[in-house]
Order: sequence, then C-alpha cells, then structure tokens
Amino acid sequence: MQELPTIRAELVGHYREDVRYPAAMVNVTNRCNLECEHCFIFRPANPNEAPLSLGDEMDDEAMLETLARLRDRHGIVQVVWMGGEPLLRAGLLARGIELFDDNTITTNGTVPLVDFGPRVLYVASLDGPQDINDAIRGEGVYRRVMDNLGQLPESFASPVQVQCVVTRRNQQRLEELVEALLQSDRVGWMTFTFYVPKRGDAGPDAWPDNSQRGEAVGEVMRLKEKHPEFIRNTRRSLELMLPPLAGHVTAGCLARDQVLPLYLEGDHFTTPFCCYGNDADCLRCGAWIVFQLASGLPRYAEDSALLERFSPPG
Ligand SMILES: C[S@@+](CC[C@H](N)C(=O)[O-])C[C@H]1O[C@@H](n2cnc3c(N)ncnc32)[C@H](O)[C@@H]1O
Ligand code: SF4
Ligand code: SF4
Repeated sequence: MQELPTIRAELVGHYREDVRYPAAMVNVTNRCNLECEHCFIFRPANPNEAPLSLGDEMDDEAMLETLARLRDRHGIVQVVWMGGEPLLRAGLLARGIELFDDNTITTNGTVPLVDFGPRVLYVASLDGPQDINDAIRGEGVYRRVMDNLGQLPESFASPVQVQCVVTRRNQQRLEELVEALLQSDRVGWMTFTFYVPKRGDAGPDAWPDNSQRGEAVGEVMRLKEKHPEFIRNTRRSLELMLPPLAGHVTAGCLARDQVLPLYLEGDHFTTPFCCYGNDADCLRCGAWIVFQLASGLPRYAEDSALLERFSPPG
C-alpha cells in the first residue's frame, strides 16, 4: 500500500509552499448541523463534500500532523477554526489549539461550547433578531444559540463574541440584535461582517453594488458610535467599505495574501481562490477581515480625501 505524505495539503492556485502566511483558516469538517441560506462554504464551486460518517474525513492524527508541519513551513501563528461546524470535532480542536499561539473558533453556537480557557476566542454566529436570523440560519436556531450561551457556567473562561453577517435582508434590523446581545452576560463583544456574494449573485442577501450597500455600512457606523466598546469593527475599517475605496481595498485584498485557506477535500486539505471559496465576487466582497487588514495600511489611514466623495446616509 502506498504511504500517504505527512503533509496532507495541496496548495494550489494563488497559494505556494515557499510563502509565509501569518494566519490560516482551517475547515476541520465538511459536516454541519445547519443549512444557512447565505453560506459560502456549501456553494457548488467549493470543496465541501460532507462525508457519510466522520470517520471518512481526514483523521485527527493526520490533520494535526499536517497542521504542525504547515505551521512550521509557513510561520502560521493565528488560526481561525471553521467548518462546517467545527465543534462537531471538539476533540480535534482541543489538541489543535495547542499547536498555535492565537486561536479563534467560529461556531454556529448550537453545539455545546467547550471551555478551552481564556486564550481561545469563540465567535458565535447570529444574523439578526429571531425572525430574521431564523429565516437565514433555520427555524429555532436563534433560541438554541441564546439558550446554549445562557447555560454556560459562570466559570466558563473562553470569551465569546458574536458575529453578524450584514445582508440586504437584515440591514434594517441590526440594532435589535445589538440590544438583545447587550442584555447577555455571556457575550463580550460583537462584530459585523458583510455578505460575500458569489459572482452573479442576485439573491435576497446581495446588494447589486457597493453604493447600494452604503446605507447598511452607515447603519453599522451609527451603531459603532453608539456602542464603541461592544462593537469591535473599527470606524476606519467601515469607512473603507464605502465606494470608491471599497473597490481599491478588495482589488488589493490583503486577506488573500496573509490567510491560508485550508478546505477539506477527502483525506487532504486544498486551497480555493481565497477564504471565501472559488466563486466569491471580489468586487462586492464585504468580509470584515479584508477591510480590517487594509485599515492598518498607511495609505488608507492617510487618504481621507477619497472618502469625502461618498457620505453614508444617516
Ligand atoms: C462558514 S461559517 C463556519 C463556522 C460555523 N458553522 C458558523 O456558522 O459560525 C463561518 C462564518 O461565515 C459566515 N458566513 C457564511 N456565509 C457567509 C457569506 N456569504 N458572507 C459572509 N459571511 C458568511 C457565517 O455566518 C459564520 O459567521
Ligand atoms: S452553520 Fe456555518 S457552516 Fe453551517 S451552513 Fe451555517 S454558516 Fe455554513
Ligand atoms: S472575495 Fe474577498 S476575501 Fe476573497 S480575494 Fe476577493 S476581496 Fe479577498
């Protein structure tokens, strides 16, 4: 029998074996217990085939060995653990977080959270108040997540942040979610990321262009001003989402160069076009990370003149 290589990862397309990547996004499973309508992972163009059973995916030992070697080869410090639903492989996560200095687990929040201590950040996904969230993420999901978070013991040490994907469907209802989360003892902060459409996407979540997204960006700016500590997006990263700067930022996307996207394909990882898969529409991309990274660049910090040409409503 032929022996499998110890690094079970094929870096293809933009991604190369001799490049440094400070961060990685790791899909530990293609299984998920939800079927969210907006999910970029399960789009047809992506590697995302769910296994018949968990045993059919790359096993813990092979995955941990691969990740340790990729860490050493590329200098990976920071990992965002994703899926599918990553908590369906909690045993793997418990060992995986030991390999890296900085760990974030993005979860749909319906599976019991494991206390991994104060140095692991949970990002739980909610996309609006109950009715809107459930229209996107599934019936009863909002309550399940809130109950799940509410039941965490007082001693639970891993901090929890909520992430909301802003879409054309929920943009008028964001404040209701913020108000509900402010009541929770469990949620330390929240961030807003904006919908990443696939090319040609004319569905209910996508804006036709970035000008039409401006009103939603303006609403998040307003909420940021009202709750500056609770909402973690920086003002500058939100300003960069407005045209014409948004187009410059996504054309020079830093996330694509700095974050190694590891999608699961059978017994190995593979790299799609970027973290958002193979058919994401860069021109309308609203990924938080893209604008957050750009806001650290001196050229965007200083260049406010361009912004004056577009003022957010409100
Ligand atoms: C793909 S999920 C995987 C982790 C976990 N299952 C969850 O839902 O949090 C990671 C994050 O991407 C967000 N997301 C899904 N589809 C998106 C899209 N089209 N644009 C932007 N973010 C999206 C989810 O809401 C979630 O916060
Ligand atoms: S829970 Fe996460 S991975 Fe699963 S369908 Fe929803 S967004 Fe996608
Ligand atoms: S879709 Fe977004 S994250 Fe992906 S390369 Fe384009 S701008 Fe970057």
